[in-house]
Amino acid sequence: MSGIEFLGTGSYVPEFVADNDKFSEILDTSDEWIFPRTGIKQRHIATDKPNYYMGAQAAKRALESAKFNPEDVNLIIVSTCTPDFFYPAMSCLIQKLIGAKNAACFDVNSACTGFITSMDIAQKFLDTGKYENVLIVSTEKLSNQTDYTDRASSILFGDAAGAVLIKRSDKTYTSFLGAEGDEFEALYCKVHYHPNCPWFGDIDEYYEHRFDTEGKQNYLVQDGKAVYKFAVNAMANAVKTAAEQIGLDISELDLVIPHQANLRIIEKAAENMGIPPEKLFTNIKHMGNVSSACIPVGLDEMFKAGKIKPSMKICFVGFGAGLTYGSIIMEV
Ligand code: COA
Repeated sequence: MSGIEFLGTGSYVPEFVADNDKFSEILDTSDEWIFPRTGIKQRHIATDKPNYYMGAQAAKRALESAKFNPEDVNLIIVSTCTPDFFYPAMSCLIQKLIGAKNAACFDVNSACTGFITSMDIAQKFLDTGKYENVLIVSTEKLSNQTDYTDRASSILFGDAAGAVLIKRSDKTYTSFLGAEGDEFEALYCKVHYHPNCPWFGDIDEYYEHRFDTEGKQNYLVQDGKAVYKFAVNAMANAVKTAAEQIGLDISELDLVIPHQANLRIIEKAAENMGIPPEKLFTNIKHMGNVSSACIPVGLDEMFKAGKIKPSMKICFVGFGAGLTYGSIIMEV
């Protein structure tokens, strides 16, 4: 099985900052409550830009960092659970904005696990030899789905985009993807339909009554405690399973970039795996949870800081709505 080489990375983080004090102005909450329980001090919100704009900026930056002609991109995979349209796919909008007219395009939605899923799909496409390079863009505008009257969920999320341009390599690569569909009620956001079809009867009662809280139909709904409990075990299991597949001891990993949902989840999972803090990347303090964009934004930050060196063994691990979870271990 072939591996993956990073040709370029990029990210886009909106200018507007909502710190914890801004939330105290609109909700009965405080920095004293939020920071110790989540590790979050602030998040960025795209107040005047659509999601595809953020994704296109991150993509352009990834191509620039690789000095790569957009017309040479073979495939664009966009991971997002906050698309601007039902269709077309966000990847088609981004293709237009960056001028990658020769690329095939499709989107992936495994929520916050989306970057890991997209990388794993891309690896399979590259492995066939038919595709030389793939642009992955993870772009998320959670502010579109956040219920800003719900203090238990709204304080977690922000907006951002990250992108990577990759090609095939002969370095080590392994992955693990999992899902627990039975747990889907722990975190979901319904699609909004206008009930204007003249032939509609009663919507399935289960669907209507179980998943409609009056006036909240279009918002992210979560059972924070259930997600928390799932996440700690899922992250540890995903990394252990991937490591076992290639006979790697977790202590041999040089860097772990986890999904940034809650600092306490990250630290507890890392502790369970025996990963020391100096090998653990976090930026949740200033970014909040930006869903599938967390990992590529973090990766871009680490590349820009010169902290990713050839032959390092790095691990991506995440979880999200679904509930989905997954990990990748690869040599850079
Ligand atoms: N400020 C002040 N009080 C708050 C609050 C806030 N922002 N959010 C919740 N509370 C209150 C609740 O109203 C509740 O009060 P009560 O006991 O008087 O009813 C109390 O704090 C406990 O609420 P609860 O929702 O049980 O808190 P928690 O300890 O589970 O922490 C989360 C909430 C969201 C921080 C935590 O559950 C979490 O991070 N879960 C994971 C969520 C996640 O990662 N989602 C994304 C996955 S990709």
